[in-house]
Amino acid sequence: MTRPVSVRWTGDAAGHLDILDQTLLPGGIVWRECRDVDSVVEAIRSLRVRGAPAIGIAGAYGLVVAAGEAVRGGCDASRARAHVLARGEELASARPTAVNLRWAVERSLVKIAPLAADTSAETLAEVLLAEARTIHDEDRRLCAAIGRHGAAVLPTGNILTHCNTGALATGGDGTALGVITAAWDSGRRFEVFADETRPLFQGARLTAWELVERGIPVTVLVDAAAGHLLATGRIAACIVGADRITANGDTANKIGTYALAVLAAAHGVPFFVAAPSSTFDLALTDGGDIPIEERGAAEVLAPLGVQAAPAGARAFNPAFDVTPARLIRAIITEHGVIEPVTPARIAAVLSGPPPR
Ligand code: MRU
Repeated sequence: MTRPVSVRWTGDAAGHLDILDQTLLPGGIVWRECRDVDSVVEAIRSLRVRGAPAIGIAGAYGLVVAAGEAVRGGCDASRARAHVLARGEELASARPTAVNLRWAVERSLVKIAPLAADTSAETLAEVLLAEARTIHDEDRRLCAAIGRHGAAVLPTGNILTHCNTGALATGGDGTALGVITAAWDSGRRFEVFADETRPLFQGARLTAWELVERGIPVTVLVDAAAGHLLATGRIAACIVGADRITANGDTANKIGTYALAVLAAAHGVPFFVAAPSSTFDLALTDGGDIPIEERGAAEVLAPLGVQAAPAGARAFNPAFDVTPARLIRAIITEHGVIEPVTPARIAAVLSGPPPR
């Protein structure tokens, strides 16, 4: 099976961004054409494109869309640059928790900063497209390296994962799911248990879809069944992705990750995180400073559009939570495996050689 692609650029620098609408999966494959920044921001906010690396890639292409707006609007050089910077801020702040989004936008903007003041909007678009393609290609390679490193340390036996961290969430094979598929492709055999991942069901809708398409056995469970599954000894390891990892290893990821890590610790099951270096925010000392996105009530009160709670009930809907470093056995990055998860080890591994 060919790996699903979450975003693609069509045409040259005057082209457009196509986003695979993940809100419709697994029901159908629908691509959304984004020809203005508003549609890219909307796609990120509504999780048509989602997953930390994938929204970073979408944000980088979104800057090309911004430059295209400046071209079509007939902006002179200085207005074009101001437009790209302003639209860049809108893109970077579309979702607050995954640091990859701001990282990718800022990395792209660094490429246009040294260009002469009279650089045209057309040239800005070309430079930004080259950088977006580089970020996209790089992510493909980083996923492969994470898969390689992770498969080497993943224990034998069944695996429990949370949310979706596969091809849909990245530019390559995925982070945590990339480790799982790399282990499978190396000939190991096991079953994957996927938390459904309420309230938006990324596990049931997306992870299960990716695994079924690849022919890897997957069993979906309600999030609340994870404790029983772990208690009955059927899981050798848990592995999840990340949206932001601070200097001490505290890790923000999809809501429910923290509960899963506590359960894993209670049952002596190793808990792994897999993420590229772009997910680390070393400017933050610990997870207490990570901004946690709060989303609308309808996602909880009317899951999948079906009203479940009575009118008048309120909702608590944080999209992410923070798992303290002490609950994480190891963090798998493209540079290698961080174990134990300590500030010194994080700094040492991340400053090591990048993947070949
Ligand atoms: O709200 P989402 O679906 O964007 O949340 C995604 C996650 O929490 C993933 O685990 C994380 O971004 C890592 S994706 C490789």
